[in-house]
Amino acid sequence: MEYLSQTGAIETLDTACLIIGIYQDAPSASFGPLPMLGDILQKGDFTAKNGQTQLLYETPGINAARILLLGLGKREAFSAKTFSKAVKGAIQCLQTAKPTEAVLLLPDLGQPMDLARAAVMAAEDAVYQFDVCKTEVESPDHPLEKLGLYVANLADSKAFEQAIRQAKAIADGVRYAKDLSNLPGNLCTPTYLAEQANELGRRYANLDVSILEEAEMEALGMGALLSVSRGSRQPAKLIVMQYRGGQSADKPTVLVGKGLTFDAGGISLKPAAKMDEMKYDMCGGASVFGVIQACAELDLPINLIGIVPSSENLPDGDANKPGDIVTSLSGQTIEVLNTDAEGRLILCDALTYAERFKPEWVIDIATLTGACIVALGHHASGLMGNDDALVQAISQAGEAVDDPVWTLPLWDDYTEILRSNFADVANVGDRAAGTITAGLFLSRFTKGYRWAHLDIAGTAWKSGKAKGATGRPVPLLMAFLMQHSQ
Ligand code: BES
Ligand code: MN
Ligand code: ZN
Repeated sequence: MEYLSQTGAIETLDTACLIIGIYQDAPSASFGPLPMLGDILQKGDFTAKNGQTQLLYETPGINAARILLLGLGKREAFSAKTFSKAVKGAIQCLQTAKPTEAVLLLPDLGQPMDLARAAVMAAEDAVYQFDVCKTEVESPDHPLEKLGLYVANLADSKAFEQAIRQAKAIADGVRYAKDLSNLPGNLCTPTYLAEQANELGRRYANLDVSILEEAEMEALGMGALLSVSRGSRQPAKLIVMQYRGGQSADKPTVLVGKGLTFDAGGISLKPAAKMDEMKYDMCGGASVFGVIQACAELDLPINLIGIVPSSENLPDGDANKPGDIVTSLSGQTIEVLNTDAEGRLILCDALTYAERFKPEWVIDIATLTGACIVALGHHASGLMGNDDALVQAISQAGEAVDDPVWTLPLWDDYTEILRSNFADVANVGDRAAGTITAGLFLSRFTKGYRWAHLDIAGTAWKSGKAKGATGRPVPLLMAFLMQHSQ
């Protein structure tokens, strides 16, 4: 969808639909020149509950062909977050109506730029459909194509337009991450992801892509990563995307995303229920693709490297077996007590590999532990790290864009849980503190730089009727990177 900034007299806006937000507890404060509002509210059908909509066809005194009343909920509870929810309601309503274009009046509370960003993100989420694999597509007869974002008095129209442009690029990054994630495992293989990276590299002049094949990984000594792909017929790939938007002396941020295109558990096979959802085990990798695309699109003045170790985890005659001991790129030996704890095995070699880029800091993103869902549910991603300032900056970025995280401790006290009688470390402990012990495992490979780890097991996709990828934590990562590129 296209978004544009709009200003001027409301009466003169030529649009098929003017969307007017109404506060539940202060309807008249919402919008002055709407004479029939009192009568409408008196009828009692439209109560301005958040997200409620009411189309009006009589629009005396204004050029707009329709008005869509949009409930904003209580005024004192209003925020960019509640506004997002309302905007989704408005878009859903318009998708079943005739207008292909509309103008949304931004409410008087909050910063117009923040509200515009929230509106763009919410609208893109509301119109998202993944139907590339359907031959019968249920799309709206009159899909919305253009949304104006109206502010009466724009203090700085350039900045406002820039905010819209940024939000659209970030929303496109989210869309890209969702598309990659929703694609099934038979189509989205490590080879497919590598092709996607090459495609991105062709699209942007300052993005260089290289793919390490299994033979090169073998020569380097990535024994942990390669032990995972042994159980699969699809060759593993280590995808490296280097975006050069900053000065050549600027140290890069490195993002490492888990790219398990299907996780059956290996010989420690998972139960059948919901196993299809393990196609989403590459959502961390997909978020790296989304962020790289958004940064390149916006020409952000930073250096950013995306590393996506990609493999399948399947049981085969040649697969990793419980008790096997493998040697990682770092030289540390790992006893594979459970082949289903494969994410940390591919990540640890990618994290060691990241050292060669002399990073400013490294953030890994992974659907790493079911335990993270037990601890935090589907609301917050788990955050851990070895640098308090970095952890805090990420946490604040998540809060600012409603992509929340919660910090868990990486205390030494838990280290004993991963002790092995036979190797330097075991890849699993017992059931206790599963998310923390996974983080602690990774921390053994990140001693050379400032590092943070995002466990997105509970936030990267939704199950049930609304099954689908969320594109998280692309918004968080973009907020973090943009904050640190100024
Ligand atoms: N990809 C899974 C984690 C996962 C499971 C994410 C369910 C989202 C939903 C990961 O590879 C895994 O299997 N982890 C194991 C670790 C355990 C063996 C220590 C888990 O969480 O059960
Ligand atoms: Mn697993
Ligand atoms: Zn996994």
